[in-house]
Amino acid sequence: MSMKVFVLIVLVLVPFGDALSRDDFPPHFLFGASTSAYQVEGAVNEDGRKPSIWDTFTHAGNANMYPGNADIACDQYHKYKEDVQLMAKMGLDAYRFSISWSRLIPDGKGPINPKGLQYYNNLINELISQGIQAHVTLVHWDLPQALEDEYEGWVSRRIVKDFTAYADVCFREFGDRVKHWTTVNEGNVFAIGGYDSGFLPPQRCYPAQSLTYNCSRGNSSTEPYWVAHHMLLAHASAANLYRKKYQDRQHGSIGFNLLTFGFFPLTNTSEDISATKRAEDFYLGWFLNPFIFGEYPDTMKKNGGSRLPSFSKSESNLIKGSIDFLGINYYFSFYVKDSPDSLQIKDRDFIVDAGVKLQPVFGDGTSTSGFPIVPWTLHGLLSSLRNTYGNIPIYIHENGQQTDRNSSLEDWSRVKSLHDYIGSIPDILRNGVNVSGYFVWSFLDVFELLAGYESSFGLHYIDLNDPTLRRQPKLSALWYSNFLNKRTMDP
Ligand code: NOJ
Repeated sequence: MSMKVFVLIVLVLVPFGDALSRDDFPPHFLFGASTSAYQVEGAVNEDGRKPSIWDTFTHAGNANMYPGNADIACDQYHKYKEDVQLMAKMGLDAYRFSISWSRLIPDGKGPINPKGLQYYNNLINELISQGIQAHVTLVHWDLPQALEDEYEGWVSRRIVKDFTAYADVCFREFGDRVKHWTTVNEGNVFAIGGYDSGFLPPQRCYPAQSLTYNCSRGNSSTEPYWVAHHMLLAHASAANLYRKKYQDRQHGSIGFNLLTFGFFPLTNTSEDISATKRAEDFYLGWFLNPFIFGEYPDTMKKNGGSRLPSFSKSESNLIKGSIDFLGINYYFSFYVKDSPDSLQIKDRDFIVDAGVKLQPVFGDGTSTSGFPIVPWTLHGLLSSLRNTYGNIPIYIHENGQQTDRNSSLEDWSRVKSLHDYIGSIPDILRNGVNVSGYFVWSFLDVFELLAGYESSFGLHYIDLNDPTLRRQPKLSALWYSNFLNKRTMDP
């Protein structure tokens, strides 16, 4: 280690005082980093890959909101070996990435693309050869465009069959080496962003009650509910297939991922306390209630009325118990206020149906930009999940800090964020919450889904003007690596 790096690390540790050691975690607790296919791979037109709804979206002139596209991104398609070397050097136990359905099965169904198959085999083999576990997401929002064109993708129930067939290919081809499968990333955000507010592809949100992004089709009152319904059915169908056909030989586990928030009542009035329960139900219980109890939460049935689909008895039985683990992405939390007036709106959409107003929890103000760093909210969220849904195994699939893309490599706010959130986990474990691993979002400065190349979450910076796209470790990468490779972080 160079003197400069050593001095930086000492400087990083001093302000945070307390010693944080990997020995504070159980030996099987995993540490990793995450990315997703569209955000890192690039090579969008290479070797038989066809467009996903994200390619269509970024090429359709959404530049104001999402400058650029991910045609090249981090070029991990060509640089995966280099990236895996870097992961190994950092001491990561696991890498969470997603498979591009459009690369593996370019039309969404039908023939497998041999070059796509080869790519994921190469990546997985490289990881395994370095002792790094592959944690694979099947859909990180990037549905093949062909399925969107044919039957409007997740709006249609036909997606269940095609998703299950795609999952079957992945289990069959990669399941001898991949033991952790996540069917869908942030199902709740995809349903709201893609079909209610319209800020994500496929940008359906008409006639939206809230933010509109030039959507000219869709139905914000009903589609978010149907899309989520089909994701639940698709997940359950794939999990059932895995358990029947592969589990005996492959011994893997299968989960689902949500963007999670801690919800805390703004005041201790009974109205705000019930509103907090409604917020949890609408954003988390929407999926977790069916997974754990086989049906939607009562508050959703009441407020969603006939717009909320229902499950048949056999569907409910299939969905109940279909997750072996829950993947959570955690960035921030909200105080919740009751908002009964919003429930009077005619033709309301999903967001209004909850009847709540949300205000971010800002914390102590020590973070000057990016997300507030408020570890007690993570603890609060996890305790609440355990109290409501039981002690299901949880992976923190994403946690991290947003900074300006071209800010200094000495990313102190990210170091503080990692230090404080990771540092809060031993207490959470002592309180009996079943957390099994933590992944930083993200391994690299990726094409960010809400900001293109304007902001970054990465442990490594990539200068987009450098044709080699060299990965440059930020201070946070050095900090994380030091934490992972040494057992004690006491200067
Ligand atoms: C959520 C998504 O899973 C990921 O794709 C995104 O880049 C990060 N969180 C940060 O916004």
